Amino acid sequence: MVDGARAFTAPKGIPEYLPCDGFVRVRDALLTAADRAGYGHIELPVFEDTGLYARGVGESTDVVSKEMYTFADRGERSVTLRPEGTAGVVRAVIEHGLDRGGLPVKLRYAGPFFRYERPQAGRYRQLQQVGVEAIGVADPALDAEVIAVADEGFRSLGLTGYRLELTSLGDAECRPAYRERLQAFLARLPLDEPTRRRAELNPLRVLDDKRPEVRALLAEAPLLIDHLSDASAAHHAAVKQHLDDLGVGYVENPRMVRGLDYYTKTTFEFVHDGLGAQSGIGGGGRYDGLMAVLGGQPLSGIGFGIGVDRTLLACRAEGLPVDDAPRVEVFGVPLGDDARRALVVLAARLRGAGVRVDLAYGGRGLKGAMKAADRSGARYALVLGDRDLVAGTVALKDLGSGEQRAVPLDEAVDVIVTALARQ
Ligand code: HAM
Repeated sequence: MVDGARAFTAPKGIPEYLPCDGFVRVRDALLTAADRAGYGHIELPVFEDTGLYARGVGESTDVVSKEMYTFADRGERSVTLRPEGTAGVVRAVIEHGLDRGGLPVKLRYAGPFFRYERPQAGRYRQLQQVGVEAIGVADPALDAEVIAVADEGFRSLGLTGYRLELTSLGDAECRPAYRERLQAFLARLPLDEPTRRRAELNPLRVLDDKRPEVRALLAEAPLLIDHLSDASAAHHAAVKQHLDDLGVGYVENPRMVRGLDYYTKTTFEFVHDGLGAQSGIGGGGRYDGLMAVLGGQPLSGIGFGIGVDRTLLACRAEGLPVDDAPRVEVFGVPLGDDARRALVVLAARLRGAGVRVDLAYGGRGLKGAMKAADRSGARYALVLGDRDLVAGTVALKDLGSGEQRAVPLDEAVDVIVTALARQ
């Protein structure tokens, strides 16, 4: 180390994923499930105008009031590292007029989101999500599709130890009356001052109180699911019917409270039992007012965000192999300078033919280079010495069986492509 130099560490609460961690495999499995249902990929800005989240997610939410990474840029504009993806997608749909074509607009996204939360296992300040949003059609079959896509993503990874919790948060017709009913109920309870204030501001959130003594007081609280408008009740029944048809199991959780204010009607969470306190591996729902709130046409929307970090933890908890595939299929071992020149070229030709190839660099001896070949996870080693070069051949060694044979150099690409395809 240079004198006076110190080693840096990643910021607190921010996980990193190394090549062996299986991050890409998990993220891509979730993205693929969305791709199969026709969701086009959108890459969103990592920061946006702060007002977008204040208006879109809700100022009274913890996410907006306590957890945002907000700062003034050099032009004194207030910007915020995105805490979630839905507001940004809706902004982009409106800005680019995507809602003027065929509906629904179906988009998927993946990447880091930022929330200044207290870090603990499964709760990070930089979290990774895969999400989808379907905007512009209020068909309950679309709600079922969104849920089924998330479920299929988890299943394609082999996960089984999770459950889907489902409820309806109603609509503009039934919510105000329910809110008053709940507030009247809460006003009669001996609540402490902060809880009383929360009851004024956002009574639904009081239902999420984790303290046993408060939970006991809330046992008889009125539930929105019992006071839905006819339209919301019919929608909810239809979503459940579609889920039954699809064989996607769910449990109703009428006390579900989501941390974002835009939800209406269908609301859901995927909960994994092997993760301890941070058990939500994904969640989402309808947000039928959000397009209008953000200045667009009054179109409906539904989507989900899946926590990739937590899905990875769930895979580990279930003992599922999530390591990324071996880095390469073929590993070149040159013995001598001329052999190195020839193998560098052969490696490039193999890559051109779609084969993943690495080489032993740095003039390592045969033993060290073969060790590197084993470590790489490659199926084959290509060993080339000066004598092979004169003979115009290369030794192709099957690293599984140990079998080795000489292959003419100018046929090596075809032979290897055929051998790999046979597996
Ligand atoms: P959310 O429930 O806030 O929803 O986040 C979705 C998922 O992200 C959670 O279920 C969890 O797995 C993961 N997650 C959230 N916070 C953290 C954290 N601090 N550390 C690790 N993982 C975390 C949304 O963000 C909505 N935008 C989802 C949505 C899309 N609703 C409709 N469309």
